[in-house]
Amino acid sequence: MNDIDIRPLPVDDDAAWQPWRDQWPIRSGTIYLNHGSFGPTPRPIRECQLNWQQRLASQPMDFFVREYEPAWLDARRRLADFLDTAPDSLVFVENATAAMNVAASTFELQPDQDVLLTDHEYGAVFRIWQRVCEQTPGATLTTARLPLSFESAHQVVDYIFRAATQRTRLLVVSHITSPTAVILPIKLICEEAERRGIAVCVDGPHAPGQIPVSPDSLSCDFYAASLHKWVSAPFGSGFLYVAPEWHERVRTPSLSWGRIAPATPTTWWEEFVWTGTRDSSAYLATPAALDLLEHQVGLSAFRARTHFLARYARQQIIELTGLEPFIPDSEQWYGSMISLPLPPGDARSLQEQLWEQYRIEVPVVEHNGRRSVRVSCHLYNRCEDIDFLIQCLKSLLQHAC
Ligand SMILES: Cc1ncc(COP(=O)(O)O)c(C=O)c1O
Repeated sequence: MNDIDIRPLPVDDDAAWQPWRDQWPIRSGTIYLNHGSFGPTPRPIRECQLNWQQRLASQPMDFFVREYEPAWLDARRRLADFLDTAPDSLVFVENATAAMNVAASTFELQPDQDVLLTDHEYGAVFRIWQRVCEQTPGATLTTARLPLSFESAHQVVDYIFRAATQRTRLLVVSHITSPTAVILPIKLICEEAERRGIAVCVDGPHAPGQIPVSPDSLSCDFYAASLHKWVSAPFGSGFLYVAPEWHERVRTPSLSWGRIAPATPTTWWEEFVWTGTRDSSAYLATPAALDLLEHQVGLSAFRARTHFLARYARQQIIELTGLEPFIPDSEQWYGSMISLPLPPGDARSLQEQLWEQYRIEVPVVEHNGRRSVRVSCHLYNRCEDIDFLIQCLKSLLQHAC
């Protein structure tokens, strides 16, 4: 990577970004527009992970007993710096799902209290909280409907809290929604929840990297995220942020030694250092992923380029379909990922045909009775990919897909 030009690159110049594109080993012939679901790992980060795996494989006892804990602590310090929080409020977990399950084990929902979610939450998150409510007598899971067309931050806050009652104890809300790729006004949402005495668990896997994330400044209770998405850390890396007032109450759903013997855990986060014998190379390679994004590409360059591509996709898809987008054309509402409505039809079959016929990997989603396409743009994508998507969509939609 030494030969990559580090001068600011023009956002609209595919050729200038080619050296970065080459850092991702995307399978030849595939147009990958689904970083939002599963973000491929760039070569240098994969190498860093392999290096950790090699250290483990070559002397497991030395690695686990002497090297692992200091490396875990260093990696966490780097992540805390990125999230502008104290290391002791953070732990590594495998993914946002694991983080959300810790929050669910910790949160003490009482009988006859409710959990509130929005209708743009991720399905698995919905299931986690559904089970919590089923296990709590008289508790219910309530769903707030978000507007069909997003106009202002206050409108979104209004829609969410319209569904809150005196029984609402916890709000579970995405920072960036999965089915619709909308950046929600999370700060305003958390402020309103605090005013009403409602705890907040932010589901944030799409946010780190795409937009600034600083859980302390949100005054949320929990923040759950994956790092394999927009941070481009290896698969199996995520984090849970827990606000200080919850530290004493955290309960991990999966108990192990916590610390490597003879140490015994005395604080909440130590329970997450040793969770049983496992390959933690994904956690340990996270600092390299953060360095790549922050110091080699540059966060603002990354965001400007990928937003440019998302905006290009937005313009082209609107031109193709003539359908009104859900959100205004602004960085307030979308970053590197954009979702646009498509004419009614079978979402699954359109997605499959895009892959089978054209080798384009892009999710086509059916949500609240509307079909849409969600285009994720990363440094390995270019305008050409989007032009090809439009051409193929045009052809498939003409044939009534
Ligand atoms: C909003 C949201 N929450 C949670 C998840 C779960 O993430 P993971 O599979 O990394 O645990 C996803 C996955 O795409 C998501 O989009």
